[in-house]
Amino acid sequence: MTSLLVAEHVTKSFLLPDGSDHYTVLENVSVNVRAGEVVALLGRSGCGKSTLLRILAGLIAPTEGRVLADDAPLTGPNPNVAMVFQSFALLPWLTVQENAELGLTARGVAKEESEAEAIKALRMVGLEGFENAYPRELSGGMRQRVGFARAFVMHPEVLMMDEPFSALDVLTAENLRGEISELWEAGRFPAKSILLVTHNIEEAVTLSDRVIVLAANPGRVRGELMVDLPRPRDTKSGRFKHLVDHIYTIMTNPEAVIKQVPGEEPRFPSLPHARAGGISGLLEMIVDHGGRDDLPQLAERLRLEVDDLLPIVDAAVMLGLAEVAHGDVMVTNIGAEFAQASQDRSKEIFREQLLRRVPIIQTIVEALRGKNNGKVKADLFLDILDEFYSSKEAQRQFATAVDWGRYAKLFEYDADEEILQLPED
Ligand SMILES: Nc1ncnc2c1ncn2[C@@H]1O[C@H](COP(=O)(O)OP(=O)(O)O)[C@@H](O)[C@H]1O
Ligand SMILES: [Mg+2]
Repeated sequence: MTSLLVAEHVTKSFLLPDGSDHYTVLENVSVNVRAGEVVALLGRSGCGKSTLLRILAGLIAPTEGRVLADDAPLTGPNPNVAMVFQSFALLPWLTVQENAELGLTARGVAKEESEAEAIKALRMVGLEGFENAYPRELSGGMRQRVGFARAFVMHPEVLMMDEPFSALDVLTAENLRGEISELWEAGRFPAKSILLVTHNIEEAVTLSDRVIVLAANPGRVRGELMVDLPRPRDTKSGRFKHLVDHIYTIMTNPEAVIKQVPGEEPRFPSLPHARAGGISGLLEMIVDHGGRDDLPQLAERLRLEVDDLLPIVDAAVMLGLAEVAHGDVMVTNIGAEFAQASQDRSKEIFREQLLRRVPIIQTIVEALRGKNNGKVKADLFLDILDEFYSSKEAQRQFATAVDWGRYAKLFEYDADEEILQLPED
């Protein structure tokens, strides 16, 4: 993927106030921003984040190293970026509308066009109707909305944000952060990429695809982590919390080597959401069809969309009862036996396949067999699944495991008491 913005071996030092010596703020920093991604620069206050942004924006020059904007070395202000500041940096004597137009005016854009762009941008940030207000008449959150509008009108390649939410109260920050994510996720964000500077770990994980962790004194890159979580981000999910904890540990341990979250691969492979009865019915149909079937034709006969059929097929594959190749689904030998045997034998096969191939079922059965009364609270397994899935998906995973386990007569589930137990006999 192409990089829109690159810092190569950037070092920045300032002369000490008495002029005696140099003070190194950034040392040998290399970072890049690719098209289409949100990158967070995460580091403690004073580690040189704002200095790095100013260098990337071409507002100050590095002492050593260079910046590339669209592969060309930068020698002055970077025309491909726009910035949102922590302090909003609005001009108090200009109206909201005039503040929003500022960058376009400076660029010599015709009045009519800059007005239209500003109105569009103000609408995006929810400030329609406030065009003629002055900054002092606005709350902090609204002032920062103007800050965003002023950056939006530039349609920059990279929109830079320097701690844009940290001057706001918690709830206002959360709202605005949510709106920015929504614009990004809806594909309506008026920039190709975002470079966010923050000292807030949760903020970095909520907004970005990649977190670059900076160390202080002198400022340098410690490493980076991919944020491979589905959007919109579920800040309550186990994986979200796990990643935040992991980054927290890294940041509080200067010696720690940065690696992706250990054990991020689910210990419990995701169960396709299909009922045992549905799996059984599907295999019978394929057996009746000679043991092999074309997926689209099968979907049509069942009056299902292929997408609705797939979880059932995936479940049969997971259980070793079917295989898929070249758009066809075929029953395996054990699958054929399962589909044709007596009900008791059929359940026995299902049971054996579950115990052999489905880790969450193994875990549940082991836990039940380890108890004298053969009973365990559902919460135990939900807590385990919460580590790997959002709480909603954890519930669904559990429900599917319960359906399969009951069908196989491996355990029973009392939904009122929320208790799993071994069958009576
Ligand atoms: N123009 C400057 N002259 C001297 N020191 C500076 C200048 N700009 C920044 N610094 C120093 O560089 C360090 C990093 O500052 P900054 O980039 O603002 O950090 P951050 O944004 O991570 O909090 C600070 O110690 C700050 O005092
Ligand atoms: Mg700063």
